[in-house]
Amino acid sequence: MYGNIISNTEIIVDDDPVKLQEFESRIASGDKIEPKDWMPSEYRKQLIRMIEQHAHSEIIGALPEGTWITRAPGFRRKLALMAKVQDEVGHAQLLYSAAETLGKPREEMINDLISGKSKYSNVFNYPAKTWADTAVIGWLIDAAAIVNQLANAKGSYGPYCRALERICYEESFHLKQGHDNSVFLATGTPKQREMVQDALNRWWKPVIHFFGPPDSESVHSEKLIKWKVKMMSNDQMRFSFFDMYVPKILELGLTIPDEELKRNEDGTWNYSDPDWEEFKRVIKGDGPCNKERLAVRRMAEERGRWVRQALLDKNSKYVTPLA
Ligand code: COA
Repeated sequence: MYGNIISNTEIIVDDDPVKLQEFESRIASGDKIEPKDWMPSEYRKQLIRMIEQHAHSEIIGALPEGTWITRAPGFRRKLALMAKVQDEVGHAQLLYSAAETLGKPREEMINDLISGKSKYSNVFNYPAKTWADTAVIGWLIDAAAIVNQLANAKGSYGPYCRALERICYEESFHLKQGHDNSVFLATGTPKQREMVQDALNRWWKPVIHFFGPPDSESVHSEKLIKWKVKMMSNDQMRFSFFDMYVPKILELGLTIPDEELKRNEDGTWNYSDPDWEEFKRVIKGDGPCNKERLAVRRMAEERGRWVRQALLDKNSKYVTPLA
């Protein structure tokens, strides 16, 4: 028997070779795959993994900058930061909905996040120590995310591409907010310049890690690129980020903490070993803030349980009946 049979998230399947060929021709011709279309089990599994990790990254990603809302310097910056953090949580909603179209219930995804089974982006396991960290995160992490998301928005799975398109509009605003804050600090007092340089020094390696391991070590790239889920390899995204943002960082008179960073004639870049062992430790749960981040999500889950239960219970006193 062929087809995609899903029991929870276990996919039991023998893919029909004829259907697989048709599916691959559709992808090659630039068609979008929609939730009810036939798809190979591995495509479904990979998409769930990737979109779910992306969704988790958005809600966890709201935490490092979120800690600065109460301490933002000035009312306008506070408003902008609040809006940004709120957007990130909205991105998670869009992405969880896109992942749900593939058959994995949201509750199961959240449980896998808080139990530590699912991964989320390495970068959000580092602390935002000063206000300058929010500037560097808003500018460079959001820029890195845009490189990834603009490319993948042209991919093959309809619901993910549409979510990414919308997310990119908002991320562009975040990038401007982060850039504006970085320019302000970099052109400010010596103390402000020192703060932004210090933040850049601490975030540089996590940003390099953000794009994933070097292509030679990437486990999933080959099939994801073949099926147009990933539209660029990890190194292509990293190099594209360097192309766009290294000149902008230097323009501000900041120093990039890597003496070996250099663009080669063929468009690749040389950079020093960013300690890939640290990357592996962080994504496996042993980074500076992993425990703290998951503890916050666990607390939110526990404290919000009664709301979810009330909404699901038609007879609940908390639910206003529909007219
Ligand atoms: N943070 C955490 N884990 C990462 C990572 C990162 N920055 N980059 C790679 N990994 C993990 C992968 O998830 C994979 O682990 P798994 O098999 O347990 O899931 C492993 O490292 C090997 O990497 P690779 O084979 O290169 O994974 P990939 O082909 O999925 O590429 C991304 C990694 C991040 C480029 C890709 O998943 C992606 O584009 N994701 C969507 C965007 C996103 O999540 N952005 C983060 C927040 S804005």
